[in-house]
Amino acid sequence: MAERASFLVEARGVSVALGGTLALDRASLRLEPGPRTVVLGANGAGKSVLLRTLHGLIAPTAGVVAWGDVDGRPARQAMVFQRPVMLRRSALANIGYALAVNGVAEPQRSRRAAAALARVGLTALAGRPARVLSGGEQQRLALARAWSLEPEVLFLDEPTASLDPGATAEVERVIASFAAEGTRIVMTTHNLGQARRLADEIVFIHAGRVTERTAADRFFVQPGSTEASLFLQGEIPW
Ligand SMILES: Nc1ncnc2c1ncn2[C@@H]1O[C@H](COP(=O)(O)OP(=O)(O)OP(=O)(O)O)[C@@H](O)[C@H]1O
Ligand SMILES: [Mg+2]
Repeated sequence: MAERASFLVEARGVSVALGGTLALDRASLRLEPGPRTVVLGANGAGKSVLLRTLHGLIAPTAGVVAWGDVDGRPARQAMVFQRPVMLRRSALANIGYALAVNGVAEPQRSRRAAAALARVGLTALAGRPARVLSGGEQQRLALARAWSLEPEVLFLDEPTASLDPGATAEVERVIASFAAEGTRIVMTTHNLGQARRLADEIVFIHAGRVTERTAADRFFVQPGSTEASLFLQGEIPW
């Protein structure tokens, strides 16, 4: 009998070997609709590989990634990478292109592209070549491009790395508003202040394994493992 899934996407005992490295080592994580998840862990722990694998960009070497359903179809997913690639065309056309690739025809395409730009406050820059936008503007454009696809799950890999505090705050506002509308946010960050601001729950990865999943308020006070505790001590300067 077909299972009516109550989850959006799930990794079950997933291992990923890349160039001789076991980037993920029997990692399991089930994402239900709901909370905002921030994935934390040291450099090289496997955060990016986990997100890419959940997004279907990397095939597991062992284990299974399963996609749940929403209204009888697979949950729509989108991903924003740490360094988003913009095409050599306008901000608006970058979104239009993504919609076209995903089968959205005119006139919906133009309408949705314009709405997405407005959503992140970039309407005034619609005609500007995407590649000359500032880092913060490009990151917001990348968020708009992902949001235009109406994802139920949005993966964000270090969405504010290398942004200044003002641009970071703007991107955080956009992320929080997507979440408030019901988009399931799964993100990584090295900014612990950001993790506190945006996370409902923390998933901690150590050496390719998901070692902990804890409510955010609790994680920062009482991490569940020595690794997580050391990680927090190393990152917090007081
Ligand atoms: N394409 C690849 N080929 C070989 N090894 C890779 C590849 N991609 C990732 N790895 C390795 O897999 C491990 C996990 O990498 P990953 O990028 O997921 O780490 P991360 O937790 O995102 O780290 P960071 O915080 O630095 O972004 C690392 O040891 C990395 O070197
Ligand atoms: Mg990474």
